[in-house]
Amino acid sequence: MLIKTGRDGYHHPIASEITPQAVYQRRRELLKLMAGGAAGAALAGWASREALAAVQRPDKLAPLPAQPSKVAGAMTMEKPTSYEDTTSYNNFYEFGTDKADPVRNAHTLRTSPWTVEVDGLVKKPARYALEDLLKLAPQEERIYRLRCVEGWSMVIPWIGYSLARLVERVEPLGSAKFVEFYTLADRATMPGIRSSVLDWPYVEGLRMDEAMHPLTLLSFGMYGEVLPKQNGAPVRVVVPWKYGFKSAKSLVRIRFTEQEPRTAWNKAAANEYGFYSNVNPDVDHPRWSQATERRIGEGGLFAKRRKTLLFNGYEPQVGQLYASMDLKKNY
Ligand code: MTE
Repeated sequence: MLIKTGRDGYHHPIASEITPQAVYQRRRELLKLMAGGAAGAALAGWASREALAAVQRPDKLAPLPAQPSKVAGAMTMEKPTSYEDTTSYNNFYEFGTDKADPVRNAHTLRTSPWTVEVDGLVKKPARYALEDLLKLAPQEERIYRLRCVEGWSMVIPWIGYSLARLVERVEPLGSAKFVEFYTLADRATMPGIRSSVLDWPYVEGLRMDEAMHPLTLLSFGMYGEVLPKQNGAPVRVVVPWKYGFKSAKSLVRIRFTEQEPRTAWNKAAANEYGFYSNVNPDVDHPRWSQATERRIGEGGLFAKRRKTLLFNGYEPQVGQLYASMDLKKNY
């Protein structure tokens, strides 16, 4: 199915509807196995992804030591998703629209040297070298659920610190109402941006109080190591109560604005991807229900669906941010 973007009347499919060669090939293999009656054949695609992740990771990445977070709600007791799944089933359109593309293609991303510009409506604009950003506040480990808009979820031990620590440093002006996140768009190293599936760079945004909430994480690592490239190295945002696309990867600029930012997916399909995009089982996507989700790693294609929680289970911590808002209107 195609959607109308509103941009030049251009039509494009969403990620889950694209069937590139590799996926098509895997489906054919799967059908062959099934026709042969092989037990567990439906898990073949899953297994091949894990094998690919293993091949792509001959060595561990650099360790990033961190203390368990004391921020309320930051440590879910649920079992983390395996590293293999988390690093081989990704959305990172700059490296391709299929979920197996980022692990295959992101090796071209150059993460050093790396700087993040912080500007706009602030008293102290600055350009931070990654090394300085890493040291700005103590690194914490936080185990967050990540719920994607397409209906799957993971549990990931992230490493980083509250974005608020950086925001305080630059002293936003009273007129700053929103924060805009710009991510890298480099034609030389990111094959996906030759496609016009999104308007590059990938831009995301938060309201100021959302950006200042202690659960909003500026992340540099996961599973005790620096971030893998396919997960948004060297620095990304993680907003655990919102659909995954709000968590912008490979950040290069953070800008404070008075106007609500126009975000990448909102520009592509405003009726489907709102600015808020809070996880909400009662507000369906126009083309599918958001009432349930499939936890990656729980039984592959046959995973049982679990009920999706309001604000992804972080309602006690963030519910008050939206107390007076109509969440159906502000989707
Ligand atoms: N950031 C950039 N720059 N480009 C993207 O395509 N995809 C988003 C988000 N951040 C995306 C991005 C989406 S749709 C999701 S679900 C999450 O990243 C996935 O993060 P993960 O691969 O670490 O699970």
